[in-house]
Amino acid sequence: KRNVIIDCDPGVDDAVMLALAAAHREELEILGITTVSGNQDIKKVTANALNLAEFYGLSVPVARGMEKPVMRKTYFAPETHGESGIGNCVLPCSGKAPEPEKGIFFIRRVLGELPEGEQATIIATGPLTNIAFLLRIFPEVKEKIQEIVFMGGSLSGGNVTDAAEFNFFADPEAAYMVLHEGVPLVMCGLDVTEQCTLSRNQILKLCQSGNRIAKLCGDMLGYSLENTSEKYRGETSVHDAVPVMYLLHPEIFKGSQKILTVDCSEGSARGAVLGGFRWWQHEEEDANAFVLTEADKDRFREILITSLYELGQR
Ligand code: BDR
Ligand code: CA
Repeated sequence: KRNVIIDCDPGVDDAVMLALAAAHREELEILGITTVSGNQDIKKVTANALNLAEFYGLSVPVARGMEKPVMRKTYFAPETHGESGIGNCVLPCSGKAPEPEKGIFFIRRVLGELPEGEQATIIATGPLTNIAFLLRIFPEVKEKIQEIVFMGGSLSGGNVTDAAEFNFFADPEAAYMVLHEGVPLVMCGLDVTEQCTLSRNQILKLCQSGNRIAKLCGDMLGYSLENTSEKYRGETSVHDAVPVMYLLHPEIFKGSQKILTVDCSEGSARGAVLGGFRWWQHEEEDANAFVLTEADKDRFREILITSLYELGQR
């Protein structure tokens, strides 16, 4: 069983990711959830994380993370995720408060409390602000981190600008810091997450089902589908579910080691990932991330949908 800490900004696809993780508690020991400003402000995403955890029957601590990127102004994504962050869905209020400790202190403590010889994997599906500060301020935690599997970046064009993916665009400095801290990384960028979609018909079926988890996820994804240009594609990417799916089923993905960095300028390349491998300039061991590039779309869909139904039947 793998220990995981989930850092997220729910967020429609973050919310579906949490459901997928909640459905697989036999494989994933969820030590806690931290939130970060991203799709919506920190107050909204933290409330969403608390309410979602309760709705999914996940009794794990939720800690509130950074409310601003390292250097930039906050940049939200209301068109994809709605004003609340979870489309038009209204969840029962969990009545719970976040942990008294802030996100990075919470993660540091949880990692520190792991028994000798045990590590945890960090799943990050929002801007990398918390993780950047964590690694910079408490570098001693690195030995407790098995790997960081994150959704963010792209080597094949962006979704906010031509060059940049949302999480990297929102906080390019944080992404830069995390890429250069020497921790094992798996990047689930748009290159792979745009292959990991649900079709309009599949979403419609989820919405019409009597299963409470399937219905919630269908309603949220339906909001994203209808309110973005994905409407014309007829399918919506479930970006943030990819890191969790990769941990559960690495065999359905392909990728390769790369040397990555991020453009931190304030121009048209802000947040763009530069990634290559010029053998005459670098050694193979200089690679700083394993980059996923291909997914078995049908398997992804099948496992995700089955997991949502299973969680709803518990
Ligand atoms: C990423 O941006 C956010 O809007 C999503 O939640 C996902 O993490 C996709 O680019
Ligand atoms: Ca996200």
